[in-house]
Amino acid sequence: KLSSTKDLLFNAEKGGYAVGAFNVYNLEGVEAVVAAAEEERSPAILQIHPGAFKQGGIPLVACCVSAAEQACVPITVHFDHGTSKQDLVEALELGFDSLMVDGSHLSFKENVLYTKFVSSLAHSKGMLVEAELGRLSGTEDDLTVEDYEAKLTDIDQAQEFIDATGIDALAVCIGNVHGKYPASGPNLKLDLLKDLHTLSLKKGVFLVLHGASGLSEELIKDCIERGVRKFNVNTEVRKAFMDSLSSSGKDLVHVMASAKEAMKAVVAEKMHLFGSAGKA
Ligand code: G3H
Ligand code: 13P
Ligand code: ZN
Ligand code: NA
Repeated sequence: KLSSTKDLLFNAEKGGYAVGAFNVYNLEGVEAVVAAAEEERSPAILQIHPGAFKQGGIPLVACCVSAAEQACVPITVHFDHGTSKQDLVEALELGFDSLMVDGSHLSFKENVLYTKFVSSLAHSKGMLVEAELGRLSGTEDDLTVEDYEAKLTDIDQAQEFIDATGIDALAVCIGNVHGKYPASGPNLKLDLLKDLHTLSLKKGVFLVLHGASGLSEELIKDCIERGVRKFNVNTEVRKAFMDSLSSSGKDLVHVMASAKEAMKAVVAEKMHLFGSAGKA
């Protein structure tokens, strides 16, 4: 059933687990996530990146909403990485239940203004607002210690950011990266995460971790223990879909069905790791 992201994250906080937010690009991807959620009795978040929205448009959002409505477990539809005010304002009207205001490319001051502006509009529509503080790196093996630390979420700024913007969920930068982790493996600041959770509980906001692809079972557990309630997963599920596409022949019906199954298997595995399996 179509649910609210706030309810999903509230239940996750109460239950000490996390919900997966999976990036979707097309019908088969949407079906893969929903089928995994139903089989695993798990809540799930379907999220659309602005790039995917440019390609799939309103029909892609409608596809997510309709699949959520027909599902027997709670599903929500989320707009990921809103770096443009224009995109976010458009997203307010399309059926998303939550959105991410991504002002992480801005200065702290501008990020506050940008996030506050979109946050008040989204709240007037009853949507949950996620925003990022700090700056997520790509995989940069040669990052200096100073550069690495400059990108981390600062705890005092986080408090000011939450107070000033009224956000509901905070995407943290603790050394997590989009895409692949460096060969040396992830370097997550788990103590910082723990402190951020103490703050987030006090403020009534939920912690989000982007870049969950490439994290080991153990690190995922560590993050959940320290308060992460939403994991964003793109690279691993997309790779499963695309690897299957390129290896399953010429019959498009069969090709799409196989890709869907391949993606579904990865989504289901994540639901177990996140502890959301069996919670719906
Ligand atoms: O684009 C974002 C600016 O930094 C601040 O925007 O104050 O008009 O919401 P705003
Ligand atoms: P990964 O591609 O590392 O899974 O990150 C996904 C993400 O953060 C989407 O917003
Ligand atoms: Zn992300
Ligand atoms: Na990643």
